[in-house]
Amino acid sequence: MLAVVLLFAAPAAAQAVHNGVGSCAGSTCHGRSAGDGAVVRQNELVVWQDYTSAAGAHSKAWRSLQTPWAQKIADRLGMGEAARAPACLGCHTDNAVRRGPTFQVSDGVGCESCHGGSEGWLASHYTVGASRADNRARGMRALEDPRVLASTCLDCHFGSDKPGQFVSHRMMAAGHPRMSFELDLFNSYQNHARKRSVSGVTSWAVGQAMALERSLTLFASSKGSEGVFPEFYFFDCHSCHRAISDEANPPVRFGTNPGRPIVWGAPPYNDENMILLNAAARVAAPELADRFAADSKAFHQAMGGDRAGMLSAASRLNATTRQLGNRFAGRGFGDKDTVAILRLVLGDALTVRYTDYSGGAQAVMAVDTLLTAAVNQGAVSSGAAGGMRRDIEAAYAAVRDPNAYRPGDFRAALGRVRSALERAT
Ligand code: HEC
Ligand code: HEC
Ligand code: HEC
Ligand code: HEC
Repeated sequence: MLAVVLLFAAPAAAQAVHNGVGSCAGSTCHGRSAGDGAVVRQNELVVWQDYTSAAGAHSKAWRSLQTPWAQKIADRLGMGEAARAPACLGCHTDNAVRRGPTFQVSDGVGCESCHGGSEGWLASHYTVGASRADNRARGMRALEDPRVLASTCLDCHFGSDKPGQFVSHRMMAAGHPRMSFELDLFNSYQNHARKRSVSGVTSWAVGQAMALERSLTLFASSKGSEGVFPEFYFFDCHSCHRAISDEANPPVRFGTNPGRPIVWGAPPYNDENMILLNAAARVAAPELADRFAADSKAFHQAMGGDRAGMLSAASRLNATTRQLGNRFAGRGFGDKDTVAILRLVLGDALTVRYTDYSGGAQAVMAVDTLLTAAVNQGAVSSGAAGGMRRDIEAAYAAVRDPNAYRPGDFRAALGRVRSALERAT
């Protein structure tokens, strides 16, 4: 009964007052210099502040808007001062609706951006006997739920329909870097939780499903078009940004892709998450795998028809994707599952689909994440995994410069990882 009362008394997380990073920073709170706290490390602040490493990127997110790079983007788009532009602040700060007196925009993506506004729990969460359930009921966000976790990061690392949380193609054309995200890998870079509740294959698989869900939902919304054109953000960048040749019998520079039947010459929808979800579904939700593959193909095909047909194909694919995400979130992944998914990601049926830079980048992040999980689960020795590192780095190198993506080198590097995996398992 008490929990129910608290639940209704708690301000909705989005509307709870955010008190700012300073309110978490006490030396007896999260501001210790050594991570030796009894319950949590307590040096989360120091880790978050170390902007020289990926773990501290969020603390410099607002300062990044003060750079000449950011200002150039804002100037081109006629947005005035970048560090005050609503279209940028949604992701480069904790864009809280309600702010306490100690809140500072200059803190960038502060603690409450992810953990939720602390109005309801700041005073109680460290008291003796406070439980996780109390904290959640008072509005602290449940990041141990893989869907909540994925959704929190995707708001800024893919985009959302909330104010100021979308990097359009226009922003990219003005100079914003491309977005690339893999939940488990990026969460491991953050490196401030003593023990992450969701990690490894579950967060990887749920992250893939929720990213596709987010993409399809936004594409079907008003974010999906820009004037008379579809919003280019959702498509493979290099399908348009490619050299043209006028010679007789010109070479075709795009690779055809059996998982992605489209009208010849049309820009293909970015399918990085679809490709990898295929592998996850085959192993962890086989009864949905054929439907997922068919729905993905139908969606790509529908892109050559009218908008109504595309919307209904998107909605079917989205429903299947949601089911996949729910299955993955409610399921443990054992060492055999991990190795089976890894084999599929490295196998011929999928590698022919890494025709674009972004699919390649997503695939090598998957290999990295899944191999780490396989080592942690004891399926692959760390020595054997270490031996694969060189080829994984070669695969990363083949996707590093998007203008020089070399699918052949990329596949060859993954092929060598696959052979090593066969010897190691
Ligand atoms: C949907 C969220 C989102 C929005 C909106 C957004 N950004 Fe970003 N921005 C990011 C993310 C995420 C990165 C990091 C990309 C990466 O490296 O993976 C980034 C990176 C950058 C960088 C490079 C920082 C560095 O040092 O590497 C600049 C500059 C930048 N953004 C400026 C802007 C400006 C200016 C605007 C508004 C016109 C804007 N951003 C809007 C999410 C966003
Ligand atoms: C409120 C927006 C926001 C949220 C929520 C968010 N991020 Fe970020 N993240 C950013 C921005 C903006 C950057 C780029 C900052 C910069 O370089 O200036 C970034 C950068 C990063 C980086 C560094 C990337 C690199 O290439 O160095 C990692 C890792 C990261 N985020 C992980 C996560 C994870 C994991 C989550 C979810 C638990 C998450 N982020 C949630 C906005 C956000
Ligand atoms: C970009 C999102 C993000 C930001 C910003 C962030 N955190 Fe976290 N934090 C997480 C995630 C994700 C976890 C792991 C949660 C889990 O797996 O249960 C975590 C875990 C923690 C934990 C451990 C919780 C536990 O139950 O073990 C503490 C304490 C914490 N964060 C404090 C902070 C503080 C203090 C700040 C600001 C200085 C901060 N975090 C900033 C996302 C974030
Ligand atoms: C459907 C075609 C199409 C797609 C897909 C597309 N773009 Fe563009 N892009 C354009 C057009 C058209 C322009 C304007 C160029 C011009 O005026 O000549 C442009 C301009 C740009 C520019 C400005 C620099 C330049 O080359 O002129 C950048 C950077 C850019 N796009 C990045 C991207 C990124 C990143 C993606 C993928 C997320 C992407 N584009 C996807 C068509 C596309």
